[in-house]
Amino acid sequence: MQGVTVVDHPLVQHKLTLMREAKRSTKGFRQLLNEIGMLLCYEVTRDLPLEEIEIETPLARMKAPQIAGKKLVFAPILRAGVGFLDGMLTLVPSARVAHVGLYRDPETLHAIEYYFKAPSDLGDRTVLVLDPMLATANSAVAAVDRLKERGAKDLRFVCLLAAPEGIEKLRGAHPDVPIWTAAIDSHLNEHGYIVPGLGDAGDRMYGTR
Ligand code: PRP
Ligand code: URA
Repeated sequence: MQGVTVVDHPLVQHKLTLMREAKRSTKGFRQLLNEIGMLLCYEVTRDLPLEEIEIETPLARMKAPQIAGKKLVFAPILRAGVGFLDGMLTLVPSARVAHVGLYRDPETLHAIEYYFKAPSDLGDRTVLVLDPMLATANSAVAAVDRLKERGAKDLRFVCLLAAPEGIEKLRGAHPDVPIWTAAIDSHLNEHGYIVPGLGDAGDRMYGTR
């Protein structure tokens, strides 16, 4: 599928299976999301451009690579996207963070915004939009719309599970935003939940209902 990368690394796949299981505890679910966040971050940043700088080792001067230009913004969609954040910040501690507060209206499945706070230089950075679930993609499209309004030009969407319907919608609305996911599931049910999926990611992460 064009513009979609499925991260099929065995560690990611194994941890995802553990997360899907209904018996997994809140603590276990949160821990696994954090760990997978780290692994997905590794994959999604694989092609970041490098530049050479001069450094001095204890033995000699050398040219060594560093990531070029202004760096990353992580943009978790609240609440569940926050589950990816700690793992990613462990790998990229200097990244900026944009918080995008959205919830899905349970009847209409439309995304309702309740919070937005982003760094002012979004246009100079690569923005990784984070949300474990890409279901109808109403939330993803609303988040990307909002980040673009605020100047973001270079965006990537990172999730754990995607429904084919959500991929089609996000790629249709924002063909310039590539998607990284650990799996593409079968379909959405009549309530807009991903099947087989893992249930409600926010509720499972925070122990709410
Ligand atoms: C969930 C999930 C996504 C959204 C995906 O959030 O974390 O943000 O649904 O669904 P969509 O692709 O159909 O928009 P939810 O609205 O349940 O809020 P929460 O994270 O606060 O629980
Ligand atoms: N949001 C979730 O948390 N899970 C789904 O399956 C769909 C939307």
